[in-house]
Amino acid sequence: MDRSKEVIIIGGGISGLGMAVQLKRLLGHSNFTIYEKSDNVGGTWWHNRYPACACDIPSHFYSYSFALKHDWTTMYPGRDELHAYFFSVAERFNILPHCRFNARCTDMTWDASRSLWIVTFENTNSGETFKRTAPVVMFHSAEWDDNFKPNGKKITVVGNGASATQFVPELVKSVGPKGRVTQHVRSSHWWTKRGNPTYSEAFKFTLKYLPLAARLYRFILAWQLESTFFSFYMDSNGAAMRQKIREATYSYIDEEAPAKYREILKPDYEPGCKRRVNTATYLKCLHSPQMLLTKGAIVKIGPDYVETREAERIPADAIIYATGFQTQKWLFPMKIRGIDGKDLHDVWDALGGAEAYKGTVVSDFPNFFILYGPNTATGQHSVIFHSECQINYSCRLLRPVLKGNTDSIMVKSEAQRRDLSWVHEKLQHLVFNSGCQSWWMDPVTKKNTFIYPDPMYKYWLRTIFPRWSDFTLRKSEKRSAKRYLALGCLVAVGFTGYISMAAQDGGKLSYDTWLRFSEGISTQLESFF
Ligand SMILES: Cc1cc2nc3c(=O)[nH]c(=O)nc-3n(C[C@H](O)[C@H](O)[C@H](O)COP(=O)(O)OP(=O)(O)OC[C@H]3O[C@@H](n4cnc5c(N)ncnc54)[C@H](O)[C@@H]3O)c2cc1C
Ligand SMILES: NC(=O)c1ccc[n+]([C@@H]2O[C@H](COP(=O)([O-])OP(=O)(O)OC[C@H]3O[C@@H](n4cnc5c(N)ncnc54)[C@H](OP(=O)(O)O)[C@@H]3O)[C@@H](O)[C@H]2O)c1
Repeated sequence: MDRSKEVIIIGGGISGLGMAVQLKRLLGHSNFTIYEKSDNVGGTWWHNRYPACACDIPSHFYSYSFALKHDWTTMYPGRDELHAYFFSVAERFNILPHCRFNARCTDMTWDASRSLWIVTFENTNSGETFKRTAPVVMFHSAEWDDNFKPNGKKITVVGNGASATQFVPELVKSVGPKGRVTQHVRSSHWWTKRGNPTYSEAFKFTLKYLPLAARLYRFILAWQLESTFFSFYMDSNGAAMRQKIREATYSYIDEEAPAKYREILKPDYEPGCKRRVNTATYLKCLHSPQMLLTKGAIVKIGPDYVETREAERIPADAIIYATGFQTQKWLFPMKIRGIDGKDLHDVWDALGGAEAYKGTVVSDFPNFFILYGPNTATGQHSVIFHSECQINYSCRLLRPVLKGNTDSIMVKSEAQRRDLSWVHEKLQHLVFNSGCQSWWMDPVTKKNTFIYPDPMYKYWLRTIFPRWSDFTLRKSEKRSAKRYLALGCLVAVGFTGYISMAAQDGGKLSYDTWLRFSEGISTQLESFF
């Protein structure tokens, strides 16, 4: 393995951290640095500190497959427990010495003559800039004031998505009798009633000591989440499943919310079109005399009030924006220039939204890998699962570069076009594109840049074996006789894998499927030699 080749990982969130670990575990490659703009690892779970911040995918599945934790306290643990877990993973795999904190990436440019990325960083403390060069760059694409004392305050909350639904019940409790929370709602959500079961000591013991119990439990959780996908199809089965969701949410609202808010709360678009929001506390908290829910859109902010379109003035000592994230500005505001100085944002603007082959690599941007990239997520699944798929896929693509067999790897533009036209054709038949405006869609072009249009297990299958004919490798890879011998053995053993892959391709036993399968196996084999 050529250890002189450095990998730059931008962002020390869950994806960046996972990538670092897998570089070590899968490729035995330790020459990498994580540049993180904040002062800790964990990304989302470091940045978000609002009260009651927690995950909504069960912890035993919202965690790395290579770092199982048997003693999660609850099914949906809070931010502190999640961050402690990700930090412990960084410690366990000795990733912290590879981290450079307070370093924000501002610019990266591909130098074709040297097959290197020139990356500019800004020190977030001093404002100084510095440059680093590396052949490979990985990127992935909220701030609660801990000193804020809500007691006695009149607080305006804008937005009612997943974040607000978690913190509003806590806020209502802490404003006290003289305080007030006014929440401005633009559209409603498909609330799902869900508590947060605590794991018993016996359960933790079983997962820890009974062989395969933790893996089996993860599998059951994954399947439960996956089965939701069938409600996303715009066919009669999907409609029947969505009708059940509709009835469940409406009766949950009728049972738990005050009568005066029920109409505001009931969504009028298809269930699943926006990510569903789980809660056991939100609807109940609306009964508090300290709580006011309004449809009134804010048009003006005064020194101690907000004014709605209906000219109503509502006193406000503090405004909390729970309006979501700039999800459609992928990798923004970094400047990323690939072959011939092509600007990635210009390329994506011309396409009407972000695109990447299998959500990971982009034509004309060699040795550049995006984690949690475009069209890799689904509304019902663990982000860590698909991020891990991308990490492992990136490692497979990276292997020839890091071994020195080739200088650069880049997806062919026709392959990218083919992959994306498949994605967008399939999306037409799913609920996500049924007409609502969600953060998955570009608000102007209406292009859905987030959703993977199939169940996640299919993404997992499709990222096991790279289809090498879709890539341009700048130096051809030399295969040794030893590798061919090993490849022959493994292909014989792994024939069932080929059959299942063919089934995935619609039952066609084509040469193309065979090529993908055998080349995938050979990539896997390389790790043994
Ligand atoms: C409150 C909240 C709850 C969530 N709950 C769930 C859940 O239950 N289940 C689920 O599947 N998903 C959930 N998500 C989605 C969640 O974002 C992902 O699961 C996960 O955090 C993605 O990890 P990441 O590493 O890809 O991104 P992030 O966690 O966002 O990490 C990216 C990192 O990159 C750094 N960075 C960004 N730009 C630069 C730059 N220019 N230079 C240097 N560093 C940079 C950031 O500081 C950050 O640390 C939740 C998101 C939020 C906000
Ligand atoms: N684990 C969890 O439970 C959890 C918690 C928090 C976040 N998350 C993740 O992070 C994502 C983002 O969550 P989020 O709650 O931060 O954002 P979000 O789901 O995008 O919700 C933002 C809310 O703000 C509203 N809004 C936006 N602009 C507005 C405006 N100008 N005026 C009034 N309302 C406005 C939106 O209304 P419209 O719907 O009309 O656009 C929406 O209700 C989630 O979908 C989820 O993936 C998960």
